[in-house]
Amino acid sequence: MNNILLITSSPRGSASHSTEIAGRLAAHLVDRHPGAVVTHRDLDAEPLPHLDGLMLSALGAANREGLSPRMFAATLRADAAIAQLFAADAIIIAAPMINFGLPTTLKAWFDHVLRAGTTFRYTENGPEGLVTGKKAYVVTATGGVYSSGPMAPLDFQAPYLKQLLNFIGITDIEQVAIEGVAFGSEAADKAVAEAKARVDDLFAAAAA
Ligand SMILES: Cc1cc2nc3c(=O)[nH]c(=O)nc-3n(C[C@H](O)[C@H](O)[C@H](O)COP(=O)(O)O)c2cc1C
Repeated sequence: MNNILLITSSPRGSASHSTEIAGRLAAHLVDRHPGAVVTHRDLDAEPLPHLDGLMLSALGAANREGLSPRMFAATLRADAAIAQLFAADAIIIAAPMINFGLPTTLKAWFDHVLRAGTTFRYTENGPEGLVTGKKAYVVTATGGVYSSGPMAPLDFQAPYLKQLLNFIGITDIEQVAIEGVAFGSEAADKAVAEAKARVDDLFAAAAA
């Protein structure tokens, strides 16, 4: 493993649980693969623009030569995000739950990297993902508890993330959930401690 792409998206800065646990995962991976390079893309600090008419027209243009500078820049931005994804052997995505789903910054990243003909294609047997051979770790942080119980049907974050990754061919996914952090500081500490233990276990198990 040479390249690890670490994507964080919390708007809560250093208070972010998902960023902390994702960082721990990255450290374990580097431990396991000395020399591996971690590329950290902090989508909150440097958000990609939302998919808008300009970007859509730019990406759909048959010939980029006639594009305005802004449109051309949009194609380069998306190309660079896709190249970064293809270059990664492992991808760690830190995803806070915001209003039952993804932060819009993370959604914007997916809007940049899901591109027909490049990261997926349509075949006569249906869509086929083209970003293959990669391992993904998804770290979710939620105020409530969604892995079981009455809130489970309201989780539009983890299943959606899985679908987006599967769609582009990333099927080897490990999820680490930090759940119930809104139920007081004790509950939050417990959730974070459990997530840390789960991450450590993942690598202890892999070493055995
Ligand atoms: C604007 C906002 C919206 C949120 N919406 C939800 C939500 O819909 N469901 C939930 O369980 N938690 C929600 N939360 C709580 C966060 O998921 C929780 O604080 C989590 O720890 C955020 O991830 P982070 O620690 O990596 O920043 C929300 C938090 C914020 C700031």
